[in-house]
Amino acid sequence: MKKITIAIDGFSSTGKSTLAKQLAKHLGYVYVDTGAMYRAVTLFAMQNNYIGADFLDKEKLVKSLPSIKLSFKFNPELGFAEMYLNDVNVETEIRTLEVSNFVSTIAAISEVRSKLVEQQQEMGKEKGVVMDGRDIGTVVFPNAELKIFMTAGADTRAQRRFDELQAKGDSVSYEEVLKNVVDRDYVDTHRDDSPLVMADDAIEVDNSYLNRKEQFDVVLELANEVINTL
Ligand code: DC
Repeated sequence: MKKITIAIDGFSSTGKSTLAKQLAKHLGYVYVDTGAMYRAVTLFAMQNNYIGADFLDKEKLVKSLPSIKLSFKFNPELGFAEMYLNDVNVETEIRTLEVSNFVSTIAAISEVRSKLVEQQQEMGKEKGVVMDGRDIGTVVFPNAELKIFMTAGADTRAQRRFDELQAKGDSVSYEEVLKNVVDRDYVDTHRDDSPLVMADDAIEVDNSYLNRKEQFDVVLELANEVINTL
């Protein structure tokens, strides 16, 4: 059976990665979480003191880009690939609110974007991939056979992210998480390089009132429709 490329873009905390993972597993495709790659570069910048509450040393970060190695390794126990930064598993560290607070700034740097986009295109060149992010259907794979754009209200998304962080034992307030979601929406949609926009040929899925199973069923049906016409 012919394989396709599935691009899942949308706002933060819309459940893109949960859906993309489920879909990839069901179809036997590779799943790529591109947000994790931007988060890993952000963690690198934090570890090296290139970014902080009131500073960004863009020049140093850009110079260090060739020494940043990003890779995914499949963890059979979890059933998905984890993010490695220079061969160190950073899957947990990249999900903190601190990283979330800096990641949009790092993701707005063109040199960072071109490095990551190139790697993403390489990872998806054989098709049979579900990739989630912000610019997959517009920049990384503009010819993807299926493009999904996920949306949900900011309050719904903040509540989901808050519940996730709490479950992990992170002591953050709902207000902090909501602020992060709203701020990231703003930066992600207003940056000069590859701002978050819905591709003309994407299908919008608003999952404010859909549970995981319902949204999976909707998107799987769309995927099967495309696959069956090949
Ligand atoms: O999907 P996420 O929330 O883990 O993504 C983290 C940040 O990375 C998000 O605020 C925007 C940025 N990002 C991006 O600019 N382009 C992508 N393809 C994926 C993520």
